[in-house]
Amino acid sequence: MSESSTTAVVERVDTERRYEILVEGRRVGLTAYRDLGGRRVFFHTEIDEAFAGQGLAPQLVQQALDDVRASGMRIVPVCPYVAKFLKRHDEFTDITDRVTPDVLQWLKSQLG
Ligand SMILES: CC(C)(COP(=O)(O)OP(=O)(O)OC[C@H]1O[C@@H](n2cnc3c(N)ncnc32)[C@H](O)[C@@H]1OP(=O)(O)O)[C@@H](O)C(=O)NCCC(=O)NCCS
Repeated sequence: MSESSTTAVVERVDTERRYEILVEGRRVGLTAYRDLGGRRVFFHTEIDEAFAGQGLAPQLVQQALDDVRASGMRIVPVCPYVAKFLKRHDEFTDITDRVTPDVLQWLKSQLG
């Protein structure tokens, strides 16, 4: 089971263009994005090894995607973990866009 009761807080950090997950005030993971118009393109998710397997990644991604919806934006899941999460959470299907070659090219230019 990957779900657990680890108490965590998820915050959007606009200056870094990522959502962070904090445990006892310490950042232990993040999911990073760039915005392309009204699309939030997620490209990388990570959880510190010491906190792996505690269900933190799904908490982080769930709250990040809830925030995308609340912001009236759409999701583009370049990050394989976010893509996997979305396969199990069809409640986001209506606001999810496919990853296209154009988006990948744009992302590459953004990330240098
Ligand atoms: C992927 C990662 C964020 C998961 O964090 P976590 O809190 O340990 O997540 P959980 O233990 O709840 O879930 C692990 C799940 O992640 C999946 N996973 C691990 N690496 C993955 C990857 N590269 N792409 C997609 N899914 C991945 C596992 O298969 C597992 O799936 P399951 O729930 O079907 O068994 C973490 O392992 C990590 O930081 N990995 C290194 C960076 C990375 O590969 N990020 C993903 C691509 S950007």
